[in-house]
Amino acid sequence: MIDVKNLTKKYGSVTAVDGISFHVDKGSVVGFLGPNGAGKTTTLKILTCFHPATSGQASIAGHDVISDSLNVRRNIGYMPEAAGLYPEMKVQEFLMFRAALREIPRRQRKVEVQRVAKLCGLSEPENMMRRNLSVLSRGYRQRVALADALLHAPPVLILDEPTSGLDPTQIRSMRKLILQLGGQHTIILSSHILAEVEQTCDNLIVIAGGKIAAAGTPSELRKSIIGPSRIVAEIKADRNALLKGLATITKAKDVQIKSVGAWQHITLHDKDSTDHRADVAKLAHDNGWSLRELRDEAGSLEDFFVHITYEQNIEEAQRSVE
Ligand SMILES: Nc1ncnc2c1ncn2[C@@H]1O[C@H](COP(=O)(O)OP(=O)(O)OP(=O)(O)O)[C@@H](O)[C@H]1O
Ligand SMILES: [Mg+2]
Repeated sequence: MIDVKNLTKKYGSVTAVDGISFHVDKGSVVGFLGPNGAGKTTTLKILTCFHPATSGQASIAGHDVISDSLNVRRNIGYMPEAAGLYPEMKVQEFLMFRAALREIPRRQRKVEVQRVAKLCGLSEPENMMRRNLSVLSRGYRQRVALADALLHAPPVLILDEPTSGLDPTQIRSMRKLILQLGGQHTIILSSHILAEVEQTCDNLIVIAGGKIAAAGTPSELRKSIIGPSRIVAEIKADRNALLKGLATITKAKDVQIKSVGAWQHITLHDKDSTDHRADVAKLAHDNGWSLRELRDEAGSLEDFFVHITYEQNIEEAQRSVE
């Protein structure tokens, strides 16, 4: 659905995007992950025909972003990083105006506006559609921007940092909405927060310094980059019985147990990165052992991310010294 080959974008002497290639299948939700200045927005702007690449190709639904930009625009809904709304307009007015710009037939406009308003949670409270854009909270502005991107029911959604600046509750509702939209759209969304994209995306593309640093499903990335998973648990049980039990659920040789009073603190490394938390919980349940902690420490894709950011910062610092 989205095809990018050898894309490069230079701003004068700055290479913002440096020869990246990737492919997004129809129906897939892809997270474009990278630190500040990695080249995420630049790539998304090329995909949405906002500016041309210096070299390389990009196409959406088979349409080239340069030679066939009209059809690309018809196929995409774009929610930019800083949503440029018209503050002097009311929500309803703005969406009707945008529907007209999108060449939605006059008779259909109201229905389409109602559809996206409902989808993006703008139909509540009752007076929301009559509020002025300038008085909306950040979260509602983001919702309006997303509603705008959805008006012409595009098969592809391109969302640049859709949750940035939102509070935790709003982040949750935006995430839920994205998951829901994922059923009907191919989505590419950018973020510099790993936990964010891990929960919403089935594929991740990690970009740093304008280059792709890693790509794959969250669990593939975890396996290839972070290595084996590590489960930490605390169970009230006899040490030997517990060891025996653990041996039945994992081939991992590496089980560490530390006794803390009556509790056994377990660290379990699994060589094949399987998440055995459910098995550990079942083991405790079946034996009538109390379980007071159970977590997967392999969540540290975060570490990898910090590592990339760190290396990029060093490179940038070196460049500025030279
Ligand atoms: N219009 C521009 N003119 C010059 N340089 C630019 C321009 N836009 C972006 N850049 C540079 O290109 C690089 C990539 O920027 P980009 O905005 O794509 O990063 P990003 O990954 O979206 O970062 P962020 O997480 O901060 O949004 C940066 O070094 C940035 O300073
Ligand atoms: Mg950006």
